[in-house]
Amino acid sequence: MAQETGYIESIAGPVVKCGGLPSVRMYEVVRVGKEKLIGEVIEVSEDICTVQCYEETSGLAPGEPVITTGDTLSVELGPGLIGSIYDGIQRPLPDLRDLSGDFITRGLTVEGLDKTKKWKFHPTVKVGDKVIPGDIIGEVPETGIITSKIMIPLGIEGEIVEIAKGEHTVIETICKVKDSHDDIHEVTMMQKTPVRVGRPFKERVHLNTPLITGQRVIDTFMPQAKGGTGAIPGGFGTGKTVTLHQFAKWADAQVVVYVGCGERGNEMTEALEEWPHLKDPKSGRPLMERTVLIANTSNMPVAAREASIYVAVTIAEYFRDQGYDVALMADSTSRWAEALREISGRLGQLPSEEGYPAYLGSRLAQFYERGGRVKALGSDDRLGSITLCGAVSPPGGDFSEPVTQATLRIVKVFWALDKDLAARRFFPAINTLTSYSLYHKTLEAWHKEHLGPDWPDLVREAMAILQKDQELREIVQLVGPDALPESERAILEAARMIKEDFLTQSALHEIDTFCPIGKTYRMLRIIINFARKMMKAVQMGVSVRRILEFSVLDNIARMKIAPWDSYDKTMDTIEKKMEREFQSLSSEIEHPEITAPS
Ligand SMILES: Nc1ncnc2c1ncn2[C@@H]1O[C@H](COP(=O)(O)OP(=O)(O)OP(=O)(O)O)[C@@H](O)[C@H]1O
Ligand SMILES: [Mg+2]
Repeated sequence: MAQETGYIESIAGPVVKCGGLPSVRMYEVVRVGKEKLIGEVIEVSEDICTVQCYEETSGLAPGEPVITTGDTLSVELGPGLIGSIYDGIQRPLPDLRDLSGDFITRGLTVEGLDKTKKWKFHPTVKVGDKVIPGDIIGEVPETGIITSKIMIPLGIEGEIVEIAKGEHTVIETICKVKDSHDDIHEVTMMQKTPVRVGRPFKERVHLNTPLITGQRVIDTFMPQAKGGTGAIPGGFGTGKTVTLHQFAKWADAQVVVYVGCGERGNEMTEALEEWPHLKDPKSGRPLMERTVLIANTSNMPVAAREASIYVAVTIAEYFRDQGYDVALMADSTSRWAEALREISGRLGQLPSEEGYPAYLGSRLAQFYERGGRVKALGSDDRLGSITLCGAVSPPGGDFSEPVTQATLRIVKVFWALDKDLAARRFFPAINTLTSYSLYHKTLEAWHKEHLGPDWPDLVREAMAILQKDQELREIVQLVGPDALPESERAILEAARMIKEDFLTQSALHEIDTFCPIGKTYRMLRIIINFARKMMKAVQMGVSVRRILEFSVLDNIARMKIAPWDSYDKTMDTIEKKMEREFQSLSSEIEHPEITAPS
């Protein structure tokens, strides 16, 4: 498409109005001013178009030139994405720094993928094979964990007439396809995809597998599904970032895309410094070998923050289409919504609740709709998923504000952080009573098959104990603990065990930072069995105080630090000891059947 040169008419923060561009299109990328700042057209009228500028606009003056590019805001997809650290519009941050030093100068064009690096391409098709869009034609071992699958892009269909192998850059032709009109189409390892619309797929499929996060409270009480959507709202310092970092480090997704969206720069720095040293518990390889980071921190331009979410989700879709399970974490969607609010304010749009634009809810929904588990394009039935998890930072921790409320209406899992728990250093500070997951039922078959048929009962019983504990605490506050009968004291004790020995989990502990799901199951089973036996014994007249003398309680308190690979042994020992100690009560009571397994 031909380039046009127009001029700046007016500037208000990141919003620039331009004239003299009669054929400019919506969402086209333009270069603004003498410094050629990168911008995107977000409103078009007959003779004026409005551009949101992805770079700082100070110093820009009316009359300076504006040049159209003919492209919409797109990302480059192909080998080289994994391990990259990008800004909000897919410019690699290390390259920007190399070009301009620590303070990034404006107007720099740096492409998302390295065009000089050669990748080893292994074809999986041969000359004569028929292909349609989405078909995989070869593989590139990108990192020790991820093999990049090269797919036929949209619009190309026909017979392979040439296929390369060996080392190639992402822009060299590796395959030629002859279509039904005998026209030849060249395929490279790189695809360019617009970010504002989702990449196409065949169909959505049922979510039936959990995304194991390694965080016990989540995997047990509010599990996420692969392809599901979740939000983690919480006031200042309640643990949003730590929890999302925990997901990025430990969740059993194959590819992780992490967006630092409008948060403090030092949080991103921590991630950048820490993650390269962490190892994936399954493969033992560095975690960065499956991670793409997008950093658009609070000191970076606000419009690029708005775009960063779409850039991230488009990258996630590319890996989904290859058949991977991808997890995308965004910290925080509130800062993203603030960017929307700022731009909408500059555009003079009518503000809705708390100044947010009326389309806040629909924009949030459009983002979360890009999550899901799908059958990818292509002739095979390849499944891939994107799980979306967004932090929400309501001012003052007030969940009734518009961003939290709009998010609540969309997501299926809600991990509510509680400032009182955080103040008591009870971490993760997730309130089990106000948080929820709508995936319990859909994941039940998986849990029963992979953990044990008793899993749903254990979870329900634990939840019932926590609910009862809440009620009893209110009574205790009024009348004191002595007024409670022994049976209710047993419930308080069981709840204490669930909270202290099971739910608290330090992100900073070398072992407890991650809990394999099998270990979570065995820990829960031990605590619930203990609770059942304790309540039965109490019914038979044994005092709670007597049961609290059991030395197995020390073992239970320490079971969370049992090693990842040999926890079974620890759990077997605890179960046997528990059995013995309850057995020892039989001489003290007349009904020895209480020791029978429940
Ligand atoms: N799971 C956890 N294990 C141990 N410590 C935790 C955990 N979660 C949170 N913390 C503690 O709480 C502190 C604040 O957490 P975090 O930075 O994640 O809060 P936040 O909700 O992101 O805050 P902000 O609103 O400032 O972004 C952490 O520095 C850490 O000390
Ligand atoms: Mg944070």
